[in-house]
Order: sequence, then structure tokens, then C-alpha cells
Amino acid sequence: MIADPLTERIACDDIPDMVRSYDRYIASGLYDRRYPRPNRRTLGILLHHLPSDGRFLDFGAGTGRYAEPLLQLTDASGVAYDICPTAGQIMEERLDGFVKDGRLMIRNGSPALLSEEFHSAFDMVFLAFGVLAHVSGRANRQNMLSVLRQTLQPNGVLIAGLPNRARRFHAERRAARSRVMDGELEEGDVLYQRGRNADTIPMFYHLFTPEEARREFDAAGFHVEHIQAESVLAEEKVVSSPFVSWLDNFVCRSLPAAYGFGFLVVARSRMTEAS
Ligand SMILES: C[S@@+](CC[C@H](N)C(=O)[O-])C[C@H]1O[C@@H](n2cnc3c(N)ncnc32)[C@H](O)[C@@H]1O
Repeated sequence: MIADPLTERIACDDIPDMVRSYDRYIASGLYDRRYPRPNRRTLGILLHHLPSDGRFLDFGAGTGRYAEPLLQLTDASGVAYDICPTAGQIMEERLDGFVKDGRLMIRNGSPALLSEEFHSAFDMVFLAFGVLAHVSGRANRQNMLSVLRQTLQPNGVLIAGLPNRARRFHAERRAARSRVMDGELEEGDVLYQRGRNADTIPMFYHLFTPEEARREFDAAGFHVEHIQAESVLAEEKVVSSPFVSWLDNFVCRSLPAAYGFGFLVVARSRMTEAS
């Protein structure tokens, strides 16, 4: 694993190393048991924005629950990147046929190298289900978005699913309050755990408001086209069955982003090629 300046930690020294945490989370099988299929609404939005023979970057792809249906349902090709080596290994097995056909490349390591290899390459870059929120520090998130912007074609689209501060981790936010006041953590940062007993895995999340997401994307050179609710129910429930996924998507059509469990940001670069 190459150390990357884009994912440097901020002042607070107990923010977990997300590479190690996700390696444990994914290797335990818990992640795939919680999220066995894509969120129908998110997949629909990705399919809507991806030209049928286009190119996509699935950034923070996990074990490939979005890359797989995109490749199955379209003629598109893509790159699936994750910072976690175990995720990459699982994707290599799961999506082996697409890799052999030359429709998918799997990458691990530095996002900065990714932007050199794939400059202006993609019609659509997506960070599904909170990838950006695992990055601590506004400046780090902004750098990451700027790097990803360079991988987009001039009219390409970036789509990110973000956790909604109004709906998530209330107790953890209360626990973080004094550290936010001391400037150790940012407003919206939480430290939480996955797994049970001796196997608890430490995690970090930055919970967004829609307004804050708009500001962060704007500062990274994006124009936010729209922000919409991703789901009404918690993601684990939404993806527990195709019927619940269908129902949640139906209800979500009239739900303001501010009430979603998470929300989806759809943005395009404001920069010209020269900038
Ligand atoms: C909540 S999971 C989402 C995985 C997948 N997108 C999905 O929807 O199932 C977050 C993913 O982001 C990855 N991740 C965390 N920090 C990252 C970073 N700095 N760069 C790239 N990926 C990161 C984790 O390894 C993990 O696979």
C-alpha cells in the first residue's frame, strides 16, 4: 500500500486507519452480509448518467456491488478502485470475467497515480455510499475531489452518495461535541465501530448536510447540478430485499434530500481543460 498525501490524518491522533479497518470489515464478510446488493435508486441514477458504451470510475468500489451490475447491464467499461487490498482481491475473483474481457481494470494504491493514468478518461466517476465521508479533514476531501475531477472528460459527471448528518450517529455526535469545540474534530465528524465484542472495528465518518456538500464540491471546482435523497430507510434495510429496495425508491421520489438516510450529489466540473 502506497502512503498517500490525500489521505493524511488530521490533528486528532485516534482517527482510525481506514485501510486497516476496511481490510478487517471486508475480510470478516460482515460488509457483504450487510450490503448484499446495490441500492436500486443509486444504481438507477448511475445507469441514467452512464452512456451505454461509456467509461466509468467506481472510486471506493468495495467488493463491486455497483461495478458488477453496470457491466452486466450496459456495454460500458470501467475501473474499480479501492484503497483496501482485500476489497481489490474479492473484486478480482468476483469480476474476473469482465477483467479478462478487457472491460474492467481493478486498481489499488495512490489516487494521485490513478489521476495520472486516467487523465480525462471517464464519462462518470462515482463514490457510492459514503466513500468521501471516510476521509478526515475538509482539505483532504477537497484534494481528493480535485484529483477525481481531473479523471473526468470535460462534460463528465461525478456522483457521490453521502451520509446525512440529520439522520445518522446521534449518540456518536454528542460524544464528539467537546472535541469539535476544541478544534480536534470538524463539525459532523464521528468515531464509531462495526462488529461486536473482541472483533470491533474502529471507523471514522464525516456526516454532511446538503449545504455543506454543495460548498465542498464547489470549492473543488464542481458545479452541483442537484442533490437528492438516496433512501428513506437505513441502507442495510433498503438492500435487504429487492421489494424493500423498490418500495424505498418509490417513496424517495418525493422525499427532500434533507430527510434522506443519505443523499446523492450529481456534479460536473466547472473547469476548462487548461485549468
Ligand atoms: C461504505 S464502503 C462503500 C463501498 C462501495 N462503494 C459500496 O457502495 O458498497 C466505503 C469504501 O470506501 C473505501 N475507502 C475508504 N477510504 C478511502 C479512500 N481514502 N480512498 C478510496 N477508497 C476509500 C473503503 O475501503 C470501502 O470499500
